[in-house]
Amino acid sequence: MRMFDNQTVLITGAGRGIGAAAAQQFAAHGANVVVNDLEAAQCNAVVDSIVASGGTAHAASGDITQDGMAEVLVARAYDLYGELNVLVNNAGFLWDGMLHKMTDEQWQRIQEVHTLAPFRMIRAAAQYWRPAAKAEMNTGRFARRCIINVSSTSGLHGNIGQANYATAKMGIVGLTKTVAKELGLFSIRCNAVAFGMIDTRLTRPTEDGETFAISGQEVKLGVPSKLRPAIEAQIPLHRYGTPDEAAGGILFLASPLADYVTGHTLEVTGGLGI
Ligand SMILES: NC(=O)c1ccc[n+]([C@@H]2O[C@H](COP(=O)([O-])OP(=O)(O)OC[C@H]3O[C@@H](n4cnc5c(N)ncnc54)[C@H](O)[C@@H]3O)[C@@H](O)[C@H]2O)c1
Repeated sequence: MRMFDNQTVLITGAGRGIGAAAAQQFAAHGANVVVNDLEAAQCNAVVDSIVASGGTAHAASGDITQDGMAEVLVARAYDLYGELNVLVNNAGFLWDGMLHKMTDEQWQRIQEVHTLAPFRMIRAAAQYWRPAAKAEMNTGRFARRCIINVSSTSGLHGNIGQANYATAKMGIVGLTKTVAKELGLFSIRCNAVAFGMIDTRLTRPTEDGETFAISGQEVKLGVPSKLRPAIEAQIPLHRYGTPDEAAGGILFLASPLADYVTGHTLEVTGGLGI
């Protein structure tokens, strides 16, 4: 029996990077995966590759910061597979800037995607999970239900140029602990994974020219390549992590191996920040 057989997993921002790697791994361990991303083409590509490998997945594209999207996505998981067992709040982007130049818009958009949207996703799942768990209480056997929120070393330790992002990524830690306390009675677990430097478009050389469209602007993504050696020197494992290694932390916390772990933030950082 694989770790996630007969389980349904919904992952936001799973069209590329860490979310896509997690989608692939959950599917390989038997899960039915609902793949969300802003970009429909990216969702479809991930779903196609899962299906080609013999897994089960469906695309559910959409912007998680839109009003009502959380309810739509959770309902889609139930419509497709009749259950939702694991919710992974992974979607996000960066809009860096030094604090003295940061606009309210820059601040607000980052809070929306990294804290408001995960809060709404959890609230939408709780509408299904609380009544279902209440009904199961007398039987003494709960269905598996858990939430994994994605945080960052920027949240835990702060980072120059990321006042907006660091605030949001620490906020999600507080949300994680609160949800763990509110829903623990129903055997629903809630944990976070804080990543360090993971090799995705958010950390690849700025010179690659990756951008992200926010509020009508093309915001540059990545880290200047000249900084990489200095960053790697600060990481005890002396290298960036791969998306697969990052996804491993998500799967661990969602798996039966972590059945007695809740409210925790697991640092998957190669030791950065210890
Ligand atoms: N890469 C790192 O080093 C690192 C470090 C710490 C934390 N993180 C966090 O990990 C998560 C995944 O990041 P990644 O590195 O894989 O980035 P990525 O850019 O490779 O993937 C993120 C995905 O989220 C999607 N997305 C963004 N906004 C969305 C929205 N409003 N609705 C739906 N989808 C949306 C994007 O389209 C993209 O496909 C993010 O929350 C990020 O902040 C990453």
